Amino acid sequence: MAKSRIIIDCDPGVDDAIALLLAFASPDEIEIVGITTVIGNVSLPLTTRNALRITAMAGRQDIPVHAGCSRPIILPRVQRGASVHGTDGLGDLGISDATHEAESQHAVDFIIDTILREPGEITLCPIGPMTNIALALIKEPSIAEKIKAIVFMGGAAFTPGNTATDAEFNIWIDPHAAQVVLSSGIPMTMFGLDATRHATLTKARFDQLERDASPIMQTAIAIMRHYGSGDASLHDPCVTAFLIDPTLFRGVDAVIEVECDQAGAYGRTRAVENGNGRPVHVITEVDDERLFQLIDQRLRLL
Ligand code: RIB
Ligand code: CA
Repeated sequence: MAKSRIIIDCDPGVDDAIALLLAFASPDEIEIVGITTVIGNVSLPLTTRNALRITAMAGRQDIPVHAGCSRPIILPRVQRGASVHGTDGLGDLGISDATHEAESQHAVDFIIDTILREPGEITLCPIGPMTNIALALIKEPSIAEKIKAIVFMGGAAFTPGNTATDAEFNIWIDPHAAQVVLSSGIPMTMFGLDATRHATLTKARFDQLERDASPIMQTAIAIMRHYGSGDASLHDPCVTAFLIDPTLFRGVDAVIEVECDQAGAYGRTRAVENGNGRPVHVITEVDDERLFQLIDQRLRLL
């Protein structure tokens, strides 16, 4: 399978961190052209700080980090208490700060420039709210047919959400952005809660990860352990794992609609029969044991 050349758009975030580490550990399958950050699990300054900390932790300061949008397109982010990801977004573990900084170019402009420079080459991998991707499509509509594909974590097609309005968090933060992206006609693979809820962290799996763990692996485990105290599903790493081994997953094609009415189930996504627009490939089945073994095997390579 040809190597995937990707931009990861993220809101690290504990599971975002594992998704990034998994990608770093898989250079034969994935080339990360850049990392862009967005508000989501925590504020933009913190998601950007965390993306820099994770690249530094893995010795991948060569990968540029571009900060993006600090709020959703329409409604300001609803302030919540400390995220399930901790106050700092990475489990409050005191992980060292990076010595390098984010690039000066805004994430939206980085996405546009990269796609225009390499048409048909780049896969976008949003694993947080889709604000940056939507604004790139609005600012430069011509990139839509130049994006190779979008593989994203967000939404739920056939199963309940994980927020108060039965929405999934990434979409709930910015449903208007999701609507722009989902209606773009770009080939898309969706890792919604239908799939990612199966990627769970059990005690037995933690015990296996702990065996002969390297220092960086121990840090990854500590990050995951924090997550395990809240939502024990490794949502975002499903996106990276798909690019490494798509046989871990199966899905169906469906048109996905997003609820943007604040008076309704704000942010909820659903697969609709006879909907308008291009169907999305919705992942519905995960071989979670093989997925976990892949994560264990690859994190040991870091
Ligand atoms: O609902 C799960 C998603 O919300 C994940 O991307 C997690 O990082 C949070 O952003
Ligand atoms: Ca995320």
